[in-house]
Amino acid sequence: MLPPTFLSLSFSLLLLSASARADVQPFTGYANDFVNPDYIVAGKFSNTTLGAQQSIIAWAEYLSASGPWSVTNKTIAAPSGNKNDYMSWAPYYWPDCSKVGNTTVLTPQQIWVTCPYVDRDGQFNPDRLTIDDVGAFSNLSDSVLYNALSFSFQNQSTSLYSQRIARFMDVWFMNNATGMNPNLNYAQMARGPSGQVGQHTGVLDLKGMAKIASGILILRKRNCTDWTDELDSGFVAWSKEYITWLETNKPGIDECASLNNHGSFCFNQLTALKLLVNDVPGAVNSSQKYFEGIYKGQINKTGDQPFEASRTHPYHYRNYNLGAMITNARLLAYADPTSNPWNLTTSSGSTIQSALDMTMTVDPSVSGESDPSTVAEIYPNIAAVAAQYGDPSGKYVAFLKEKFPDYAWDATFLWDQPLQGDPGVVGSGNNGASGGSGSGSKDGKSAAAATAGPGLSTIRLVAAVLVVGFVVSW
Ligand SMILES: *[C@@H]1O[C@H](CO)[C@@H](O)[C@H](O)[C@H]1NC(C)=O
Ligand SMILES: *[C@@H]1O[C@H](CO)[C@@H](O)[C@H](O)[C@H]1NC(C)=O
Ligand SMILES: *[C@@H]1O[C@H](CO)[C@@H](O)[C@H](O)[C@H]1NC(C)=O
Ligand SMILES: *[C@@H]1O[C@H](CO)[C@@H](O)[C@H](O)[C@H]1NC(C)=O
Ligand SMILES: *[C@@H]1O[C@H](CO)[C@@H](O)[C@H](O)[C@H]1NC(C)=O
Ligand SMILES: *[C@@H]1O[C@H](CO)[C@@H](O)[C@H](O)[C@H]1NC(C)=O
Ligand SMILES: *[C@@H]1O[C@H](CO)[C@@H](O)[C@H](O)[C@H]1NC(C)=O
Ligand SMILES: *[C@@H]1O[C@H](CO)[C@@H](O)[C@H](O)[C@H]1NC(C)=O
Ligand SMILES: *[C@@H]1O[C@H](CO)[C@@H](O)[C@H](O)[C@H]1NC(C)=O
Ligand SMILES: *[C@@H]1O[C@H](CO)[C@@H](O)[C@H](O)[C@H]1NC(C)=O
Repeated sequence: MLPPTFLSLSFSLLLLSASARADVQPFTGYANDFVNPDYIVAGKFSNTTLGAQQSIIAWAEYLSASGPWSVTNKTIAAPSGNKNDYMSWAPYYWPDCSKVGNTTVLTPQQIWVTCPYVDRDGQFNPDRLTIDDVGAFSNLSDSVLYNALSFSFQNQSTSLYSQRIARFMDVWFMNNATGMNPNLNYAQMARGPSGQVGQHTGVLDLKGMAKIASGILILRKRNCTDWTDELDSGFVAWSKEYITWLETNKPGIDECASLNNHGSFCFNQLTALKLLVNDVPGAVNSSQKYFEGIYKGQINKTGDQPFEASRTHPYHYRNYNLGAMITNARLLAYADPTSNPWNLTTSSGSTIQSALDMTMTVDPSVSGESDPSTVAEIYPNIAAVAAQYGDPSGKYVAFLKEKFPDYAWDATFLWDQPLQGDPGVVGSGNNGASGGSGSGSKDGKSAAAATAGPGLSTIRLVAAVLVVGFVVSW
């Protein structure tokens, strides 16, 4: 079973990359997002977004290859001994064995319980990946979002994409044997003699709940037959238990009270899950609690974010919290269409736009953060701000054109619309077939549905989608 699956997957990805070569962006895992399901279900996408749609389909394929995921995949059980408990180790904590008095070298297992662990902010302890519940959940959440978007491009009530989501969601959440218990008692656990319990910072591990909520809401609104009533009520029941855990246990309470990005991401989860369980007033309530609470202190008069600026990777953390603030704004705008979260100000009178404008002036190399994946964290933030606040001077599009000319082929370009000025300007002309003549479909069509008078790249794309759709199994 495994070799043929692997072979056919490689084959179809190869075909995808050969046929739509320059038209997809390599996968980028962005901090967080909430994609308005009504915008997706309406499906009135500009024909400039065809490249983004192709990337989304490719990303769905790429991510799904490592699923399904389960907390029971890890070989080391949580201190409870319950293999259904989520566990992760605090990423910046390191053992200090200098004072434990051992006369021989300790095994890793002995170190975990014997040596005190100390915090070195920003320095990842590589052994945190010995267990990777956090990586598994991150893949799950991206996979659910991109598969749901890919499903939405087809005018069908069932598809390979939505079948995958059904299976992945069941294995991670609902299935009795493999499902996660609805708590984070052992997340970002500091080890050592006084450790072995989760820290509130570990609540951050499940920030991708906002992506999952987007994906499931899309399946629901499109009446997807693979997302059955049983799955839906199972996930609603799971989410209600988890919301209660978040709101009544110290780690959840402390995390949402954190003044920095941890607090912002905590509200991403709470608000998204309240929408998912159909508690719209509760979602509005929790989001308002964010905007009337910790948000007030997050952006100062110069647009800087003092709690992120003081960290070891200030460029990354500024963009990270921007992603969380943008997600909170999208959630509130969806939960209460009469609200105007983009105009809400902090105590100093600043908005999300002020924070983005300030961050655009930061040179990442000053803090040694020039690696391309860190530099790239700002792009979707720029696009989100440009789409929401407008871009009358053209400075946002100009920045993207200069630093990331292929931005129109990034997944987020699908929903960060409209980019004012000329939305087709970003990336056009230097990305193979999509930028050339005759590609794409009329307004209102999507990549997989674009069959009326298709250009060359559309024909290639449809062929690739069909092959992927029929050949890939998991
Ligand atoms: C993780 O667990 C699920 C459910 O048991 C299983 O289907 C999957 O193959 C496992 N993944 C790995 C990498 O072992
Ligand atoms: C004590 O254990 C640590 C961790 O294995 C090791 O680095 C150190 O060398 C050990 N001390 C002695 C004296 O063996
Ligand atoms: C997550 O996905 C990436 C990309 O496919 C893969 O390299 C990684 O092993 C996956 N991690 C887990 C825990 O599934
Ligand atoms: C979707 O499919 C239905 C039934 O097959 C058809 O009536 C409808 O026109 C299609 N919609 C689009 C946008 O193609
Ligand atoms: C799963 O567990 C629940 C509660 O423990 C039980 O009610 C349910 O029947 C079980 N489902 C299966 C498929 O075993
Ligand atoms: C889903 O079903 C509902 C109720 O039957 C219907 O009103 C709605 O139009 C359907 N939505 C789509 C996108 O098919
Ligand atoms: C709003 O939140 C407060 C606590 O912050 C709570 O007492 C109240 O019941 C909530 N209202 C709704 C509608 O969820
Ligand atoms: C805003 O925060 C930054 C970073 O902490 C600081 O350098 C700057 O002086 C602050 N500006 C104001 C007006 O407080
Ligand atoms: C902010 O509020 C003003 C006045 O109500 C409105 O014109 C503008 O569109 C709002 N901006 C955003 C980004 O919502
Ligand atoms: C895209 O849509 C615009 C406006 O509807 C139209 O003028 C243009 O010709 C279309 N481009 C392609 C390549 O279909």
